[in-house]
Amino acid sequence: MLLLWGAAGFLAHGCVPAAGTAWEWDLPSYLEPPPIPEGESVTEEKVALGRRLFYDVRLSGNETQSCATCHEQARGFADGEATPEGSTGVVLDRNSMSLANLGWFTSYTWPNALMDTLERQALVPLVGDTPPELHAGSDLERVLSDMESDPWLGDAFVAAFPELDEPVGIDPIVRALAAFERTMVSLDSPYDRYLQGDDGALSPEAQRGLELFEGDILGCADCHAGPLQTTATQSNDRAETFVNTGLYEQYPPFALGLLEITGEASDMGRFRVPSLRNVAVSAPYFHDGSGPDLDAVLDHYAAGGRTLEQGPWAGDGSNNPNKDPRISGFELGDEDRSALLAFLDALTDPSYLSAPELSDPYGD
Ligand code: HEC
Ligand code: HEC
Repeated sequence: MLLLWGAAGFLAHGCVPAAGTAWEWDLPSYLEPPPIPEGESVTEEKVALGRRLFYDVRLSGNETQSCATCHEQARGFADGEATPEGSTGVVLDRNSMSLANLGWFTSYTWPNALMDTLERQALVPLVGDTPPELHAGSDLERVLSDMESDPWLGDAFVAAFPELDEPVGIDPIVRALAAFERTMVSLDSPYDRYLQGDDGALSPEAQRGLELFEGDILGCADCHAGPLQTTATQSNDRAETFVNTGLYEQYPPFALGLLEITGEASDMGRFRVPSLRNVAVSAPYFHDGSGPDLDAVLDHYAAGGRTLEQGPWAGDGSNNPNKDPRISGFELGDEDRSALLAFLDALTDPSYLSAPELSDPYGD
């Protein structure tokens, strides 16, 4: 019976070969190509189109922003802001996330456990209005006619979606963006070369940092787990992937975390474990960008919760009732701190930060 269902699925989606040239993955042996929604495919044509769209300010309602405005390649596709402004000038509540190895994540954004595909996520910055990011919906006719009348893009939509009568539209745009995002693979850092058996790729100091990171006392790897550095690639279990780290004694009403989705009081302050890939270049940190640098992040963990002396959210985060018990604090001497920072630095993948195939094609 199972086999029959499998065959039916194949007939529904597989009898017409995916239009276009299948993307060739170049991955380490421990990783399969990322899962994709049923009926979807990653093709060179979609990826090429998605890359252009990612960098195209004409996708925003007032032609001022593209995805890359808040996701800059040299910063690991974060933006250096605590919280960015959207295209209409409204300041967002949350920090722009760095982007890498997204195809393997089980959910997207800081708090939204329901955001489970890249297609669904891309729709939010594209047309969402709470808050407005690209806000394409404010001038959708112009956005789509710009796409259609641009000679390169017009052809690229047809090449990427030859099966569609109307290849230019919101749905093909998010599908192409998602295809491009699935190819944003950052697995060529010194840490990766060390994982592949090159012992010299990590300095002795960074190796000591890795030991601390994975060891029981600091336990960073409990949450920033595995080569992709987050439990959100391995599990759909919210208890594993959404964690309150005690940043605030009382989380601000505009940053309640998973509670915003579930309405459960016990989900207050729980945010998805971010990957730490390229973390040394993607400051500031945390869901609200309130961690200025990696030293501040380590101070927070060492204290088992962050104390804010002043301001509207002053308080001792370690008293937060939802704080994960694993954030319990530890002693961190200067040498261990340097070692940990050396390891976090070794998660930077210079080839990713300058990869021509991920760069702004309008600069070509
Ligand atoms: C105005 C700034 C801004 C723009 C423009 C923007 N983003 Fe983002 N991006 C953010 C912020 C802020 C977050 C965190 C959102 C949240 O937690 O709700 C984010 C999160 C993401 C994530 C989730 C990453 C993860 O690890 O879960 C993806 C993927 C993403 N953005 C892709 C895009 C794409 C594609 C576009 C263009 C269509 C885009 N972004 C445009 C600011 C922006
Ligand atoms: C119990 C799970 C857990 C443990 C243990 C943990 N983290 Fe985190 N980490 C998280 C979560 C969740 C966030 C996001 C918190 C937020 O923004 O509210 C985070 C955020 C971070 C960030 C900021 C990343 C960014 O892009 O903004 C860094 C850096 C970091 N952790 C490093 C570490 C280090 C180093 C350790 C060990 C000392 C550690 N973490 C231990 C869950 C954990």
